[in-house]
Amino acid sequence: MGMPDKVTIVEVGPRDGLQNEPEFVPTETKIDLTDRLSATGLSVIETTAFVSPKWVPQMADAAEVMAGIKRRPGVSYPVLAPNLKGFEAALAAGADTVAIFAAASETFSRKNTNCSIEESYTRFEPVIAAAKEAGIRVRGYVSCVLGCPYEGDIAPAAVAAVTKRLYEMGCYEVSLGDTVGYGTPTKARAMIEAAAAEVPVAHLAAHFHDTYGQALANILAVLDLGVAVVDTAVGGLGGCPYAKGAKGNVATEDVLYMLHGMGIETGVDLEAVSDAAWFIAGVLGRRPNSRVSQALGAKRGLAA
Ligand code: HMG
Ligand code: MG
Repeated sequence: MGMPDKVTIVEVGPRDGLQNEPEFVPTETKIDLTDRLSATGLSVIETTAFVSPKWVPQMADAAEVMAGIKRRPGVSYPVLAPNLKGFEAALAAGADTVAIFAAASETFSRKNTNCSIEESYTRFEPVIAAAKEAGIRVRGYVSCVLGCPYEGDIAPAAVAAVTKRLYEMGCYEVSLGDTVGYGTPTKARAMIEAAAAEVPVAHLAAHFHDTYGQALANILAVLDLGVAVVDTAVGGLGGCPYAKGAKGNVATEDVLYMLHGMGIETGVDLEAVSDAAWFIAGVLGRRPNSRVSQALGAKRGLAA
């Protein structure tokens, strides 16, 4: 296959990045962050989640966030919608794309969404049907593709089976989530090879968390198999509330630096994303969890 010439970055910072913050992030800040990101050349920004506020209190302001952002032409603003209730709220909020999320681990499926993997498909069916009718695209996620915090190793065949199912149900793209960041490059390749045997690689995305510092290496390994969509979070924000110990997604700036350095186009302005990373890190009272932003910030005297 070989490296792609162009990669699409799916920025998930406002959703995945902020969902696990212990202190409620003001709605205005979420809106501001999303607007700053939409000015950087990013074409996809996962903005919020229409999930139960009892499960994820940080996303309780999903409708207000969607009402407050300045929608930039050419930018898509996906939101999570785990069930029909979430989909209806997302539709009312004017979402252009929704994301459903399944898992390759039975235990994680229950912990994250209170249902088995099989039951999750039953929940997704009416969401996909309603989305189709409303002309809304549906993205799919599979969690725990390189290991589960409860079950340990997950077989590539288990990932491939869920990926195939979501694609056949109507997801235009399936994002493969290393939820806790356990993966290493050889395993990441084997997992993508198994998924790509079922679903064309052009419809797969890599969603790697960086808990163990392996995300960039894993991304590089799967780019070589033709994966050309990569999920990242500004400033390396994030974690999943139902995956204890999970740290942020790989930082958008780190991925941009690597890709641009390799001559791979993204259409995204690295310095502008880094400015957004320093903005949100400042609000949260810390430095960006991105080596590239720290280096760029040091040059500009921000890191002190
Ligand atoms: P449940 O308790 O089984 O649902 O939760 P239920 O249908 O029995 O409803 C229970 C209550 O929730 C009811 O309210 C519903 O109205 C309400 P009550 O009558 O008790 O007052 N409710 C909702 N409220 C708002 N929006 C909704 C909604 N649905 C029900 N959509 C459910 C099932 C799926 C709702 C719940 O488990 C949930 O919200 N889970 C979300 C968990 C989550 O957001 N996790 C993080 C995102 S996934 C992730 O981070 C991984 C990813 O990044 C990829 C990777 O890294 O691997 C995507
Ligand atoms: Mg995630």
